[in-house]
Amino acid sequence: MIRHVNFLLLCPHRLSTLVHAISALGTTAPHFLALAHYACANTVCSPDHPSGYRGRMHGEWDQDHLGIGLVVSDNGACVEYPHRPTVGFLQGGRTARLSQPLTMSSGGHHRLSIVIERTGVYSQQSLTEVGLVGARFNESIALWTAQTGWSFQSYGGKSFLVTPNRNGRDRYGKVIVNGDVVTLRLDMNERTCALEINGEDFGVAWKDLPDKVYPAVTLFPPAMYRIVTED
Ligand SMILES: *[C@@H]1O[C@H](CO)[C@@H](O)[C@H](O)[C@H]1NC(C)=O
Repeated sequence: MIRHVNFLLLCPHRLSTLVHAISALGTTAPHFLALAHYACANTVCSPDHPSGYRGRMHGEWDQDHLGIGLVVSDNGACVEYPHRPTVGFLQGGRTARLSQPLTMSSGGHHRLSIVIERTGVYSQQSLTEVGLVGARFNESIALWTAQTGWSFQSYGGKSFLVTPNRNGRDRYGKVIVNGDVVTLRLDMNERTCALEINGEDFGVAWKDLPDKVYPAVTLFPPAMYRIVTED
């Protein structure tokens, strides 16, 4: 069995699960024990471990559609807008999306967390925007201007869902500060997405999603977002 496992693709907590499965078979060979020791001593996953697998996304920002001024680092896990652009560049926000879409017709559930390492600043107020885009989006402008209707925004002292068609804003979630974790919880069977903030569930935010959507964020300097994929 060992010969068929590529350990480089396993982060430590999965390896630990695997090792427990193997030791349940009652083996005491030294190399199994060494493996078990390694797995049990390394239960924290590095933020950039290769977590993609068949049918699921890799947690990477799309570097083929990166707005001017954005920087991706940490093997694609981090996107940042470090500096206000100098005059001449398009001012304003940028949208970054993940490189792989989530496909509703594949069914099941998917969770994806985004750590707000640093909020952006817009008009001297903190701004964080997390949502979804479809296949077509404009990386040179903020998510809310894309008018998709799948946007959660925390701006200044308010937090809300942007609802372009009704020209309104529904209070939702909570105000985001540096270090908060926003989790997108997609139910592909129901075609809905709910949000959690620091583990607190705020209920379904968006319904009737199309077949393919990409998690996306808006960046104003000095925003920085990190993806954490979960199984
Ligand atoms: C994206 O938005 C910018 C700013 O509004 C605009 O100049 C540009 O033409 C848009 N790009 C596309 C492909 O629509």
